[in-house]
This record gives sequence, structure tokens and C-alpha cells, in this order.
Amino acid sequence: MKRQDYYYKKAKRERYKSRASYKLKFIDQRFYIFKKGMNVLDLGASPGGWSQVAYELTYGGNVISVDLKPVRVNGIHFVLGDVLKNETLEKIREKMREIGIDKFDVIISDMSPKISGIKEVDHMQSIELGKRAFEISKDLLKEGGSIVIKLFYGQEIYNFKKDVEKFYDFCKLYTPPASRERSREVYMVCKRFKLST
Ligand SMILES: C[S@@+](CC[C@H](N)C(=O)[O-])C[C@H]1O[C@@H](n2cnc3c(N)ncnc32)[C@H](O)[C@@H]1O
Repeated sequence: MKRQDYYYKKAKRERYKSRASYKLKFIDQRFYIFKKGMNVLDLGASPGGWSQVAYELTYGGNVISVDLKPVRVNGIHFVLGDVLKNETLEKIREKMREIGIDKFDVIISDMSPKISGIKEVDHMQSIELGKRAFEISKDLLKEGGSIVIKLFYGQEIYNFKKDVEKFYDFCKLYTPPASRERSREVYMVCKRFKLST
């Protein structure tokens, strides 16, 4: 059985919204991102596989999930909107005030652009989304916090990583086993955010 069929079927069986859930589980097993009670911001969350895992692994911590499309997951807080727009950032802040969160312990972004099939275009658009997640983290992540950002592989990843790693003690690129065999996605996992660089 192909790997992608395996995780697709496993997600159906285990009632996850998407096979992507297992990517986040692999990332957590490797890098120890989540702890009980943590506050998590999930960018590009629909249909909600990562949000389910974040909610499980923080044992009822607060998860705010943001996407252009709805996310229906019990226990999480949802914000509808385009992460690239400032009005969505305002909505996130409003939600944070509502539930009494000052900052997040973890920010995860599985945001993907609409795939054009042209590698360079998809790569650069994913970098744009990744940069936005990074900018948001500078504002909303606690000192010592972690970030996970999905990117499509290409040369610009290394320049972006250089910028990001100034702000973190630890930064690694990682492709979890649950990623599709031919996919060019790679996750940037950074830990121990430093408020002053
Ligand atoms: C691969 S899917 C995420 C899957 C999700 N992590 C899960 O486990 O179910 C990528 C998502 O990014 C969202 N997205 C892309 N650009 C966005 C943007 N500018 N603002 C908000 N969401 C965006 C898409 O709508 C899509 O739902």
C-alpha cells in the first residue's frame, strides 16, 4: 500500500479531519513541541487535522484556528479570514482577549498557496505565507515559544531560515514520514523564541 493511502485510511479510521494530522504528530514526536495547557495558534487550519492534534496534545489548552475556509473541531476557537490581511490579525487579537490569552506558546502554520504546478511560483508563494507566519510570531509568541512553518522546497528557504534563526535558539528543516512521497513540502521547526536578538 502506498504511504499516502495508508495515512488517508488511518485518518478516516481514527476520525481525524485530514491525513496531515500525522505530520504534526511526527513533528511533535521528534521535536517535543506541545505540553499540557499550552496556548496554540494554528494558521491555515482547515479542515482541522492539526487543530485536533494540537488540542489533544495540549490536553485542553486553548487552540485558535484560522483559515479562509471553516474548521469544525470540538473545543477549538475559530477565526475566519485571510492571514495576509491585517483585519484577520485584529480578529485573532479579539479572540485572544475574549478567552483571556496574552500570547501563544506555539504557532503552527500548515498554510499552502493554491498549487499552480510551477515549482518556482509555488515555492515563492509558500515563502510569502511562511514569512507572514514568522511576522505574526514576532508579535504574538511568548519568549521561549516554538513555531512550525510549512514551506515548499526551493532555494529561498535557506535565506528565510537565516532570518528566522536569529530569533530562535534552535531551527531545523524536517520532512515527516507522513508527507507524500513526491511532495516538496518541508517544515521549519524552531524552538526557544528570543524576544531580543
Ligand atoms: C494543507 S491545508 C491545511 C491542512 C490542515 N493543517 C489540517 O491538518 O487539516 C492548507 C490551508 O491553508 C489555507 N490558507 C492558504 N492561504 C491562506 C491565507 N492567506 N489565510 C488563511 N488560510 C490560508 C487554505 O485555505 C488551506 O485550508
